[in-house]
Amino acid sequence: MFIKSIIIKDYRNYDQLRLNFDRNLNIIIGDNAQGKTNLLEAVYVSGFGKSFRTIKDSDLVKFNKKFAHVKVDIEHDNGRQETIEYRINEQSKKEFLVNGVNITRISELLGTINLILFYPDDLKLIKDSPVERRKFINRELSHISTLYCSDIIEYNRILNQRNELLKKIIFKPDLKDTLDIWDEQLAEKGAKIILRRKKFIDDLDRISKEIHASVTDGKETLSVAYNTSVKNLENYDTIKSDLIFKLSKQIDVDVKRGFTSVGPHRDDLDILINGISIKSFGSQGQQRTAALSLKLSEIEIIKQDVGEYPILLLDDVMSELDLSRQKDLIYTLKNVQTIITTTDVKNLLDEYISASKITKIKNGVVLDH
Ligand SMILES: Nc1ncnc2c1ncn2[C@@H]1O[C@H](COP(=O)(O)OP(=O)(O)O)[C@@H](O)[C@H]1O
Ligand SMILES: [Mg+2]
Repeated sequence: MFIKSIIIKDYRNYDQLRLNFDRNLNIIIGDNAQGKTNLLEAVYVSGFGKSFRTIKDSDLVKFNKKFAHVKVDIEHDNGRQETIEYRINEQSKKEFLVNGVNITRISELLGTINLILFYPDDLKLIKDSPVERRKFINRELSHISTLYCSDIIEYNRILNQRNELLKKIIFKPDLKDTLDIWDEQLAEKGAKIILRRKKFIDDLDRISKEIHASVTDGKETLSVAYNTSVKNLENYDTIKSDLIFKLSKQIDVDVKRGFTSVGPHRDDLDILINGISIKSFGSQGQQRTAALSLKLSEIEIIKQDVGEYPILLLDDVMSELDLSRQKDLIYTLKNVQTIITTTDVKNLLDEYISASKITKIKNGVVLDH
């Protein structure tokens, strides 16, 4: 799929902007603080329903304006056209329309337009706590499967209720008998989530290994492994019974702590280069390249699951790749619409520049060129 055009009104530092995109390569050039990331963010919100930079939706509305308005026209590989439109007001109230029809749940957006963003903060994926890696897994799988998305929401609801109950058991030990009902429900949803994650991480391992070998000229082997408390991942039933067993085994500890200590909400992703944990031992450059390899793998995974390539947004990250790595990237991205931001074209390979639609941005305005 690709974005044909975007119309932006009163969004961040933009008054009004209309921009057509090339179906392959697009470069957005501008000095710092001119609106490059804001533009990618406006696109991103049309796919995820929220920003990657703020949880306060009203931040997206231009200062002193009532509401931001963005309209994105996309075309699928089979020629089908779709429009996503959203409005956000100064009280953070937001409204999304797909093909002119109001949607009630953000999850309905996720199937409409598939986007992958790579930006400097993505290093967190490697370096930070497991929370970031779970977020990554959840976000990607939610894009592929709305069922997964609703399973996660439901799982978290049950988990919260179980945790509430755990806190009460200290004072009312009789309540312990009612835990079984929650454990059964939690294990049911949990097993579905774990099974889906296992398949995703297996795919991720296989595909990212190939991509990483190509961007490092075969010098590094990347491995990604699922780190979960469940040991027997054979099928839904084995996972579910293992979860129930572990929940009951941990019960005294959990009552003392007041929260549930086993389950997919504690999962992690182990990322290794040449067999060694990259989180603890990788150089900054290795970590960055690994993060990029993982992101690029998602492109393939989405293609396999959804049938068409997603759109790739690269915010200020190209300059960090040396030219030979950029060259490998260009082949990986042959059929993927890519929107790149940069402060300086000198950071980019000539092949990119000649094949791209170049847009210069200054202070929220497109410059003629
Ligand atoms: N709600 C807003 N209203 C007006 N301007 C904003 C708003 N939010 C951010 N900005 C401005 O946007 C600019 C930053 O844009 P950004 O896209 O991050 O720059 P860059 O081109 O470096 O990626 C800053 O000048 C900031 O003051
Ligand atoms: Mg920026």
